Amino acid sequence: MKRMILASSNQNKLREFKEILAPLGWEVVSQHDLGIDVDPDETGTTFEENSAIKARAVYNIAHLPTVADDSGLEVDALGGEPGVYSARYGGTRDDKVHNRIVLKKLEGVPDDKRTARFIAAITYIDESGREYSFTGKFEGRIGYSERGKNGFGYDPIFMVGDISSAEMTPEEKNSQSHRGKALRALSEYLKSI
Ligand code: IMP
Repeated sequence: MKRMILASSNQNKLREFKEILAPLGWEVVSQHDLGIDVDPDETGTTFEENSAIKARAVYNIAHLPTVADDSGLEVDALGGEPGVYSARYGGTRDDKVHNRIVLKKLEGVPDDKRTARFIAAITYIDESGREYSFTGKFEGRIGYSERGKNGFGYDPIFMVGDISSAEMTPEEKNSQSHRGKALRALSEYLKSI
């Protein structure tokens, strides 16, 4: 089996990458499994840049196929915020606080101006150091309160039609989500080489 390193220590991400790439003959291991202890500053201004920063930091140590992802929420009425700051919006990593801030900032904003999207960028670096980038988008709008118990992060305030992404089953969400789309684009590429 070919081996790929995931530049992350997030167990949920590891499980998702393993599930999608194992059927293609790739074993995905985390940087943590290999004792690679780097955590570079995410200084990029785009999701693509930040995923590349994370992948390069690990590739430069291991020189093996490496993959990393970066994702977040863009709210049109907030000029694209929280964007690359999604995980640390308002100076905290507390998802409840993030959601409260977004809802507060959107008070009085009508339905048709509440459009938003999740974006995921994946960078894959092959054994010889060539970089490939894949992105996925998940369009929706910001609701008026938190709804649903599934998912994580901004899912309870992210509405797709009449339900929030925290009210979707994992399968339903994966079939439409930004990360699902970016992962499927990566897997299509890996199938083609
Ligand atoms: P990172 O990709 O681990 O750097 O973090 C992305 C941040 O964006 C997370 O902490 C969440 O706040 C948010 N985010 C990304 N994808 C999702 C999603 O599918 N649902 C809800 N929040 C998300």
